[in-house]
Amino acid sequence: MMFKKIAISALAALTIASSPALAAGSGGHVTDYDFSFEGPFGTYDRNQLQRGLQVFTEVCAACHGLEHVAFRTLADPNGPELPEDQMRAYAEQFEIWDPAIMDYRTAASPDHYPGSQFTGAPDLSLMAKARVGFSGPYGLGINQLINGIGGPEYIASFLTGFTGEEDVQAGTLFYENEAFGGWVSMAPVLFDDMVEFADGTPATEEQVAKDVAAFLMWTAEPKLVERKRAGFIGVLFLSVLTVLLYLANKQLWAPIKRRAKES
Ligand code: HEC
Repeated sequence: MMFKKIAISALAALTIASSPALAAGSGGHVTDYDFSFEGPFGTYDRNQLQRGLQVFTEVCAACHGLEHVAFRTLADPNGPELPEDQMRAYAEQFEIWDPAIMDYRTAASPDHYPGSQFTGAPDLSLMAKARVGFSGPYGLGINQLINGIGGPEYIASFLTGFTGEEDVQAGTLFYENEAFGGWVSMAPVLFDDMVEFADGTPATEEQVAKDVAAFLMWTAEPKLVERKRAGFIGVLFLSVLTVLLYLANKQLWAPIKRRAKES
């Protein structure tokens, strides 16, 4: 009876964990895009991160900041992996405020991206984690492990979710967005072929949205791949330890058990 109860509640917990109906956040419609970094062995796709970096730089950086991201990390392993010289040249495109000289200066590799340039536009460094969607953070975490946290899916859906409806409220223009689940003050910014990708990937609106969403997942979680690897090694280590402890336990008790049997 007890076992049955536990089995039923475990089953219920699993169903809840994998139910898309338990979507967090705004309640808008989010498409479950597939990303290479999902799943226990998922890794970032370097080419995709480089395309996303390009989209961020050419489109989003006009308004949004990435304050928590240092330029030098663009050359790190398991990231966009820009060659060192390209990363330095990239940083030099930006002007940042330097409190030491009380003035703006050209950015260098140890500096962080500037903050948002447009009033009301949030910093995007951690946005992929701030907007965890349908697969997190609720439930047992199993769904998150398999499907990812949903943040990048939300960002891609948000960028492609404009209905075309506009409305002026209190003197501000608002745009209807299905993923946002209502009216938002950011205008639609993506359309087909607005950027040209060096690796030849066709720059459809959806592709551009997914690429920049993947890049923003990396900015929010740059050590994702390392963490997954460490977790896997941890599980492996604990499994081996379990076997060793089992064998050691048997051996330790063997003479005592023998004695018990003999008497
Ligand atoms: C013209 C300026 C502008 C550009 C360009 C722009 N945004 Fe925005 N964005 C905004 C503003 C303003 C908001 C705040 C909207 C609000 O809360 O009503 C916003 C909000 C957002 C949000 C948060 C939505 C939410 O759930 O609260 C995301 C994500 C986002 N932008 C991503 C992007 C990405 C990615 C790009 C580049 C492809 C981009 N934006 C380009 C101005 C801009």
